[in-house]
Parts: sequence; structure tokens; C-alpha cells
Amino acid sequence: MYVAHLSLTDFRSYAQVELPLEPGITALVGPNGQGKTNLVEAIGYVATLGSHRVPSDAALVRAGAGRAVVRTRVVRELEPGHPRATLVEVEVTPGKANRARVNGGSPGRARDILGILRTVLFAPEDLSLVKGDPDGRRRFLDDLLVQLVPRFAGTVQDYERVLRQRSALLKTAGAAMRGGRGTADLRTLDVWDAKLAQTGAELVVARRALVAALAPHVAASYAQVSAGQGEAVITYRASLDAALADDGRGRGGDDGAPASGGSAASTSDVPATARLVEAQLLEAMGRLRPKEVERGVCLVGPHRDDLVLTLGGLPAKGYASHGESWSYALALRLASYALLTDGVPAPAAARVAPAHEAGSAAAPTGGAAAATGSGPVATGSGSAATGSGDGVERPRIAQASEADGAAAGDTPDGGAPPRAVAEPAATDWLGRGADWGPDGEPVLILDDVFAELDARRRDRLAELVATARQVLVTAAVAEDVPEPLAGARVDVMGGEVARVL
Ligand SMILES: Nc1ncnc2c1ncn2[C@@H]1O[C@H](COP(=O)(O)OP(=O)(O)O)[C@@H](O)[C@H]1O
Ligand SMILES: [Mg+2]
Repeated sequence: MYVAHLSLTDFRSYAQVELPLEPGITALVGPNGQGKTNLVEAIGYVATLGSHRVPSDAALVRAGAGRAVVRTRVVRELEPGHPRATLVEVEVTPGKANRARVNGGSPGRARDILGILRTVLFAPEDLSLVKGDPDGRRRFLDDLLVQLVPRFAGTVQDYERVLRQRSALLKTAGAAMRGGRGTADLRTLDVWDAKLAQTGAELVVARRALVAALAPHVAASYAQVSAGQGEAVITYRASLDAALADDGRGRGGDDGAPASGGSAASTSDVPATARLVEAQLLEAMGRLRPKEVERGVCLVGPHRDDLVLTLGGLPAKGYASHGESWSYALALRLASYALLTDGVPAPAAARVAPAHEAGSAAAPTGGAAAATGSGPVATGSGSAATGSGDGVERPRIAQASEADGAAAGDTPDGGAPPRAVAEPAATDWLGRGADWGPDGEPVLILDDVFAELDARRRDRLAELVATARQVLVTAAVAEDVPEPLAGARVDVMGGEVARVL
């Protein structure tokens, strides 16, 4: 896919700007502060409904204006050889729900446009994926998850809402308990525990599946950019596992090592079901409740999880050199690009589900999980649904779990509900949703990254991305754009854009 046109109204420094674009490489060149990043940030916003620079929308609206509008014309080949343009328009109004329109239709919920445009954005900020706090890595996972399977946008939003409400209730319950009251609050808390466990489990299972699918791409991409100094291994570390390992039953085994994961369900490739994780979350919350009420915070759930990055067996954070950290950050983005482009593969050793399970897994909206009311709800985005209605049953995937010595279907003892209803394996969730048709390749955006990299990494990165369908590069001077990325050039100066090459 590619963006054929970008049009901004009151976005960042632009009152109004029109930028026609083409497939292939385009460099946006101009001195600092002239509005290059503002342009690519807007394109990224259409893909993720978020900015790579700021956590909230307020800064995106031009100072003095009440709302910003970003319009893009996205060209996709949903059938090979038949490019079709889709006009996507988002209105950003801080403090209010954003609205979006597709092809000039009536305005609707912003998140329904997710999935039409896919982008992978490289930026100087990416270094904090490796060196920074877990929240940046959680956002990385959730953004990628939503691009891969847009219906998870609803799950992420629901989880955040439930988390806020439960945290608020914990605070008031704590205050009430200290004042000698509070049983009513605790009863309400049960309701929120259930909601947190349900949405939290969906998110944990989806993230684990994502990490399992992403891990081989990260290892390969790291090897490509780094010329093979140590293997890059990513794993998902769930706060749930620490909570379960704490229960005195020895779950989590004898390996206290963070990157190794803990309980069986923690390894990213065991087909842990949302139902099992939901039960485990409830159990953990039950056990942690006195502490939670005392401290007024939710102590277990995906908001406290992390994506652990290791290099040659050591944590990248704190151990990797500056150059290695950059290679890792690039590898995470390149891996995202590969995963979005290729989709979630069925591994050679795919385990085919028994017929009754496969039948249920092929149900159009989330299979058994949706049927029981606990599955993520489809967002109704037409484009997202088109790929999965072909009636083809895909083999159920059990990635690498056997190789790790954990039998498929192995569950930690105790507390696991019977698997009465067939539920899709974690990777199924991604596999079905990520079946995107032939044009999943995202637009690549490289915002000012070449100035940050040494010559070797610059050249490697340029080589690796040069053949992508569309690459947008920003640079202060044309010389910062490496040779393999010579292409169209747009000068950006004082809020004006001008095609010069
Ligand atoms: N909400 C806003 N309203 C008006 N100007 C803004 C807003 N946000 C950023 N800017 C201006 O945009 C400019 C930065 O643009 P940017 O795209 O980051 O530059 P660069 O070309 O260096 O990438 C700065 O001059 C900044 O003051
Ligand atoms: Mg910039």
C-alpha cells in the first residue's frame, strides 16, 4: 500500500498543506523546525491514532485552533493488480472523542479506520524502546497488535478504561477501610476484578502470541543490522507469572531468571487460552487484594508486563552498548515491517486442531471466545473483515512449544478451568485477524534516523528498506539520505512544501 496524498488542516504547525506522494522513496528535506516530522507524524496518526512523539493529542492541534483534520488517500491492492484508493479523514479534537470518515461517508468512531493504512515509523525516540521504561515497550506491542489485528483496539481501550476505574475504586476502598467502613466498595471491586481479568486476559494472550510471531523476525533483523554480535531474543514477561510464582506452590519453577519466563503459560509460545489466563488473573487478584487496597493500585495485569529484550543472553537494557541498542531498536521496527508484510506464518510443525475445534475457530467473529461473550468485539471495519471470510480453515498453530519441552495443552496445575469450549490457540487469534489479503506491506517512515546512526548501520538500514513499496524519509540536509534511498525529494520550509526532484 502507499499514501498518494496527505492533506492537513490545523495540524501542528500547518494551517493548511497539501502533499501529493508517490510509491517508492520520497525524502522530505529541510532545516530543523520546518515541519518535516509534523508531516510524517500525521501519516502515522492515521495508521495508529497516536503520535510517536507525544502521549496525548493536544499538541497535535495547531496552537489557537480547536481541532485538527488529517486526510490521506491510501492506495491498496486488496486484489493483486487492482489498486483501489480509500480516502481516510480523521478529526482530532482534544478532550473529545475523535471522529473519522472513510470515502466521504458519515463521521464515525475514529478507531474504525484502524487497519486501512499501515505504517512502521523509525524515529530517534526508538532508542527508548531498548533503554527506556516498560510502558514504551508495551505501547510498541499494542500498536503493532492493533495494526496487525485492528479489533484489538477495542480490547486495549476497554482494558485501559477498566484499569482506571478499578484503580480509582481501590483508592476509595483503601480510604474507607482505614476509616472502618468499606465492605460495599469491596463488593463492587469483585465486579471490576472480573472485568479486568477478562479484558486483561485477552490482551495478555494476544501480546504473547504477537511476541511469539515477532521473535524470529527480531532475531533475523538484528543479525542483518548488527553483523552478528550475539543473538537478539525477545520474550514476554507477564506480571501474572510473578504473582503466580509467589503463591508458594512452586509455580514458576526454580528459574528465577526474568527472561526465562516463569510458569508454563508465560512462555510466549504455549497455546495459553484467554480463559485460562482470565482464571489465573482472578486468582492472583484475589491473593493480592489486601496489598492492592492498601496501596491503591492494580498490582497484576498487562499494564505491569514487559517485553524483555536480551542480547547474547544478557538484558539489552543496561548491558548493550549504544550501537547495539540502536541495532536492537532498528531490529524491532524492521521485524514489525516483516511481520505486517508477511503476516503470521503457519510454522512447518503446525498442529492441526481436531475438527470440532477447527470448526469453531473458523467462526467469523472471534470463534468461541466471541460466542461466550468474552472475545474481543469486531470493530466493524469493513477492510479488516474482508480477508477472513474466505471460508478457508487454517491449520491451528502451535509454535515452537514442543521444541521447548512444554507439551501443547499443558497447563499449570490448579485453578485451570476445564477446556469445555474449544478456544483458539493464541496464534490463531493473530493468524485469522492478520489475514490481510495480498497488500499488508506497511508504509515505511524514517524520521531523522540516519543522522543518529553510524555509517555501517546507516548503510545496512538503507539497503534493507530501499525496495519497500513506499518509504518516506525526513532529513535536515539531502546528504543525510543514503545513496540507496535516492528518489523523489520534497523541500519543507516555513510551512510550505515543494517538490523539487
Ligand atoms: N500544535 C502546534 N501548533 C503550532 N506549531 C507547532 C505545534 N506543534 C509543533 N509546532 C511547531 O512545529 C515545528 C516543528 O516541526 P517539526 O515537524 O518537528 O520540525 P522538523 O522539520 O525539524 O521535523 C516547531 O516550530 C514547532 O513550534
Ligand atoms: Mg523532525
